[in-house]
Amino acid sequence: MPDRKGGGVRKSCEAATLYYRILSKSTEFRLNYSWRSAQESLQAGFRATLVVISVYATLLETGGCFPGRECILSPGEDFFPLIFSELREIQRQFGYLPADQLKALAKKIDVPLYRLHGVASFYPHFHLTPPPKADVRVCQDMSCHLRGAGALRAGLEESFRQSAFADAKLGGVSCLGRCNEAPAVAINEHIYTELSQNQITAMVGDLLAGGALPEISQVHRRVSCASDPYGAGEHYQTIQRLMKSRAWAAAFETLKSSGLRGLGGAGFPTESKWQLVRQAAGSEKFIVCNADESEPGTFKDRFILTHLPHLVIEGMILAGVLTGAQKGVIYIRHEYEDQEKILHEEIRRCMRNGLLGPQVLGSEFNFDLEIFVSPGGYICGEETALLEAIEGKRAEPRNKPPFPVQQGLWNKPTVINNVETFANVPTILFRGVDWYKSQGLNGAAGLKFIGVSGDVVHPGVYEVPLGTPVSELIFKYGGGIADGKQLKGFAPSGPSSGYLPASMADVRLDFKSLADAGSMLGSGALVVCAEDRCMLDMALNSTQFFRNESCGKCVPCRVGSQKLVEMLTGWTEGSGSAADVALIDELSGALRLTSICGLGQVVPAPIASVLKHFRAEVESHILQRRCPAGVCPCGKRSGGRAAPGFAAAKLGRA
Ligand SMILES: Cc1cc2nc3c(=O)[nH]c(=O)nc-3n(C[C@H](O)[C@H](O)[C@H](O)COP(=O)(O)O)c2cc1C
Ligand code: SF4
Ligand code: FES
Repeated sequence: MPDRKGGGVRKSCEAATLYYRILSKSTEFRLNYSWRSAQESLQAGFRATLVVISVYATLLETGGCFPGRECILSPGEDFFPLIFSELREIQRQFGYLPADQLKALAKKIDVPLYRLHGVASFYPHFHLTPPPKADVRVCQDMSCHLRGAGALRAGLEESFRQSAFADAKLGGVSCLGRCNEAPAVAINEHIYTELSQNQITAMVGDLLAGGALPEISQVHRRVSCASDPYGAGEHYQTIQRLMKSRAWAAAFETLKSSGLRGLGGAGFPTESKWQLVRQAAGSEKFIVCNADESEPGTFKDRFILTHLPHLVIEGMILAGVLTGAQKGVIYIRHEYEDQEKILHEEIRRCMRNGLLGPQVLGSEFNFDLEIFVSPGGYICGEETALLEAIEGKRAEPRNKPPFPVQQGLWNKPTVINNVETFANVPTILFRGVDWYKSQGLNGAAGLKFIGVSGDVVHPGVYEVPLGTPVSELIFKYGGGIADGKQLKGFAPSGPSSGYLPASMADVRLDFKSLADAGSMLGSGALVVCAEDRCMLDMALNSTQFFRNESCGKCVPCRVGSQKLVEMLTGWTEGSGSAADVALIDELSGALRLTSICGLGQVVPAPIASVLKHFRAEVESHILQRRCPAGVCPCGKRSGGRAAPGFAAAKLGRA
C-alpha cells in the first residue's frame, strides 16, 4: 500500500485545514456581525488573537492536527491516530496506565493531559489503577443471566472468600460476544465459556501461584453457507465481473431492486446510503464496516467473520468502487481476536491478488483496507460514536444531522454498514434480484443469520429465510426449550427489541412483521426465556445493561437509565409503588424524545414490553410483593404475603 502513513497524515490534516477555515471564517463572521453595530473599527491585533484561539480550539477538536503540519495525534503504524496504540503499549508494559506515563505521553504526542485522561478513562479496556493479579469478570447480561451467570458469580464469591485469595477481584462485565456458550467469563481479559465454579477457582489459584492461564485455541472449520455464492469455487468473482463490465449504474439498480436494508439494527436502505456517498462532493470518502457487535444475544457477525470473511471484504471493495471511496476500515470489538486474525489473513490474500491496494484488479481504483480494534464498550457500535473512537476520541455519539454519509470519518462522506449487510452485497450482485427475493418468506427477501441463545437446547447461529417464524427458530433449529420446559417469552433482538410472549411465537423474523408486533428485527439476536423465568427480572437485567453502557453524554439517558434501574429494582425487591408506573411512563417519554442516540431511546423498551405483555406478573410484584416465578428477592422475602396498602391499588397504563 503506497503512501499509507503519509496519506493518512495528509488526509487528517486536510480535514483539519477545512475545519480550521470554517472555524476562522465563522469567528470572523461573528466578530464582524456583533462588532459592526457596536464598534466599527475592529483592531487587527485583537482579531488575530481570536484567530489564534480558534486555531487552538481546532487543535483540540481535531485531535491536534495543525493545518499544513504533521498531526499531533498523527496516524501511527497505519492510518489511525497514535493515541490508542500508545496507550495499549503502556498498558502492555505496566499492566495499567500509571499517571507519570500518561503525563509523559501527553508531552510526547503534544496532547493536553486532560484530553488523554478523558480518552483513557472512557474505555473499559484501559485501567488507570493497577489491576489485581487475577481479575475475574462474569458476564451479567441476558443470555448469560439465563444460563446461570448469577449463581456462578455468587458461588465464586463464596469460594474466593473460602480460599482467602489475596489479590483476586470478582466483578461483572457486559456481554462478551459468547452468548451461545453462556455463561462467559473474562479472566485477566481472556475469555472462557461454560466453565464451572470449581474450574474458575482452580484457574485463579494457579494464576495467583505464578502459573499461566490456559490457552484457548479455537480451530474454526469453515462452515458452508447458503448465502455464499461461490461455495467451493473461486472467491471475489463479483468484483471481477464488475470491473470487467464497469456497469456501475446497473449494480446500483440491482441493489435498489433487491431492497437490501441494513442488518445492524436500524434497517436503512443500503443502496440509498451508498448513492448519497457516491453523490457527495469531494474525492476523499470512507467505507467503514461495523463489527463492534456488543449487544447481548448478538453473535452472528462473529460467525460471518469466521466463515464468510471474503464476502464481507468483497462487499467493502464493491462499496469503495461504487462510491469512489479509497479507504476502508473494519471496526472490530477487541474480544474478537480470532476473527481479527482471520480478517488479517484474508486482507493479505487480497493484497497479494491485487484486490486491495493501488489499482484494484489493474483498474484506476485504489482501495486500502485496515482493521481498527475497538477499545471497548457497547456505545462504540453506534455509528457516530464509532467514528469518534477511530479518530482517537471518547466514543460519544455525535448529534445528527449531519449524518455520516455527509460528514463521517474525519468529516468526509462515509458509508457505515454492518458486517452482514456488506456480506449480502456480492451475493445479490452475483446471483441477481430474483434469486435474492426468492429466498425470503412471506414477502420478505433474502437470507438472515440469527443468533439464538438463552433457554434453548442448541444455542447457535442459524441461516434462515428472512420471514421465518420465531417458533421455527426456537423449536426446529434451537431444539426447543431446555430441560423440556415450556416457552414463556422471547426477545426478537436482544434488550433493544423488548420481550414478546409465547403466544406471539409465530411472529415472523422480518422488518415488517416485527414492527407490526411492536418489536424489531434489529440485528437478529433471538433470546429465549423458559416458563420459570420472571419477565420483570429480565426487564431489569436489560435496563441494567443500558444503564451500564450509557456513555453519559446526555442527561436523560445517564440519569434516566439509573432511575429506571432503581425503580425496577424496587419492584423486584417488594419496595416498589404503583405510582412508579406513571413515573416510568413519563421518564420513558423523556428518554425516547430527548436522548441523543439510539441507546437512550431504547432504554424503556424492555419494561414497556413487559408491562404490555406480562402485566399480571409485574402487578404481582407491586401489589402482592410476590414474584410468581420465585426469582426476585421479593418473592423470597415476603413469602407471597400482600403488602399492606397495596392490595387495592390499581396500576396505571405505561
Ligand atoms: C448503542 C448502539 C449500538 C450499536 N451497535 C451496533 C453494532 O455493534 N453493529 C452494527 O452493525 N450496528 C450497530 N448499531 C447501529 C449503527 O449505529 C448503524 O446503524 C449501523 O452500523 C449501520 O449499518 P447497517 O445500515 O448496515 O445496519 C448500534 C446502534 C446503537 C444506537
Ligand atoms: S443517549 Fe445515552 S448513550 Fe446515547 S449519547 Fe446520550 S448518554 Fe450517550
Ligand atoms: S456473552 Fe453474556 S450475554 Fe453475551
